[in-house]
Amino acid sequence: MSVTDTLGEIKQRAGEELARVDGTAALDALRVRVLGKKGELTALLKGLGSLPAQERPAVGAQINEARAWLTARMDEALARLQAKEREAALIAEAIDVTEPRPVPKTGASHPVTLVMNDLIECFTGMGFEVLQGPEVELDHYNFELMNIPKNHPARDAQDTFYINDNVVLRTHTSPMQARAMLTRKPPIRIVCPGRCYRADEVDATHSPVFHQMEGLVVDEHVTMADLRGTLTAFARHMYGPDVETRFRPSFFPFTEPSAEVDLTCPSCHGKGCRVCKDTGWVEILGSGMVNPKVLEMCGIDSHKYSGFAFGVGLERLAMRRYGIRDMRLLYEGDARLFGQLR
Ligand code: PHE
Repeated sequence: MSVTDTLGEIKQRAGEELARVDGTAALDALRVRVLGKKGELTALLKGLGSLPAQERPAVGAQINEARAWLTARMDEALARLQAKEREAALIAEAIDVTEPRPVPKTGASHPVTLVMNDLIECFTGMGFEVLQGPEVELDHYNFELMNIPKNHPARDAQDTFYINDNVVLRTHTSPMQARAMLTRKPPIRIVCPGRCYRADEVDATHSPVFHQMEGLVVDEHVTMADLRGTLTAFARHMYGPDVETRFRPSFFPFTEPSAEVDLTCPSCHGKGCRVCKDTGWVEILGSGMVNPKVLEMCGIDSHKYSGFAFGVGLERLAMRRYGIRDMRLLYEGDARLFGQLR
């Protein structure tokens, strides 16, 4: 067979195989077989020596032409196959971003945090500022400036954790009243949420660690009507627009007069039920007009200024709001309980 015929055969066969080749690996193998160092074309070139000298240039040119043609076909095929393979890979690796996944369990806010955030929203909405202070507090702020001198019976009512003679774990958030008045000038409008401590036994309604939020307003012409209006707005924010408030005379050394505030029972709306012991009312906080003695001790002119203050227990609000009967549940951290609350 002449070299020309052999070349024609190689080209034809390679052309057929190129049309069928289905991957870059197979194409590579074909390229090596036809164009490689030990390939079919190279073998033909090596055979040139056995031809008569005058035929060699023409046949050599034919072989080179065939090599160029085959190389071009193979490069075309390579481009086509690579594109096909890229597309197949993209399809194989595609991620279905709409596929539902198991929802990971996340933490939930503690009921006290929920109530605290809600109160902060309510009071900042009325122009109050949030202030925080130390839980390890000087006796001076916790008691003395709150008009509770040493040996005052009111100290016994608050079973205090003493660090030493002068330092206590604050038994209420009221020392923040003194801290605010000593560092600010009226008008003062603040709420102070935070932890408090009392040496109480743990039971369904007591815990040695609990939370309060203190409120304080000091300005000219502040009256008990302002206190009542503010607390009623707060009660309605928490429990709905139909809630009424009721003030009962009470006593705190740092307010005069003092009032305990009740609201219509959120469980029975005032009709009387187990929660409110059939009275239709539940107690929510202590409050009063800032005792002029306290104003003076904190450097505020009690002839020019007056103020009101209140202190609300956040555990109690949370329990009331979420129908939690036993305070201990609040400290057990059961995600099944907390995960349900809003
Ligand atoms: N500090 C008081 C308590 O812990 C609550 C209170 C605050 C009362 C402010 C009146 C005014 O019981």
